[in-house]
Amino acid sequence: MRVALLGSGRGSNAEAVLCAQAEGRLGKAKIVGIYCDIPTAPMLQLGPKFGVPAFFLDPGPFKTKFSPEQEAFWADTLSEHKVDLVVLAGFMRVVKAPLLERFANRIINLHPTLLPAFPGLDGIGQTWRANAPEGGCTVHWVTAEVDGGKHLGQSRVVREASDTQETFAKKIHQAEHALLPKVIAELAEKFSGR
Ligand code: GAR
Repeated sequence: MRVALLGSGRGSNAEAVLCAQAEGRLGKAKIVGIYCDIPTAPMLQLGPKFGVPAFFLDPGPFKTKFSPEQEAFWADTLSEHKVDLVVLAGFMRVVKAPLLERFANRIINLHPTLLPAFPGLDGIGQTWRANAPEGGCTVHWVTAEVDGGKHLGQSRVVREASDTQETFAKKIHQAEHALLPKVIAELAEKFSGR
């Protein structure tokens, strides 16, 4: 199963997936490229580090969505690279047609909350400010509803009295780093059995 990692920033989840691949924990999945919508994203540096092609692709002039032409260009590029599964790993842009149509039921997203709680931006901050007794992370199929598709996996993180927002966020990120590679490996196993 040929996998594309899409992201916009730090890339710690992409790194966790690439480490899992290097350690043989990604099963039948193969990361074929890193695709960023921000030219200065640190995530792009993972390409040379792990020997994987890394690309900045222009998303168009908007901050949180693609322009239709550029979304078609992204879809064409991923098709040319024969991508089977698109993984949104810290990708801060809404995905719509044509990307969503071209890769229908083949795009997954990682979100740093226990969905359906706290969809949208700053999920950890939302969880923290709501004084929720626990937070966590979710991997789900991407549909037209933002953060709304069927869940593939979830990890829970308890908020301890001693937690600060920083320590709470750190635990959630650790949970994400374990969950995302696991879900990708599981999907690859199913994909290879089709
Ligand atoms: C992760 O916490 C991810 O769940 C979140 O962005 C962070 C990216 O970190 N994604 C979203 O909020 C998507 N709505 P990373 O760049 O270090 O992987």
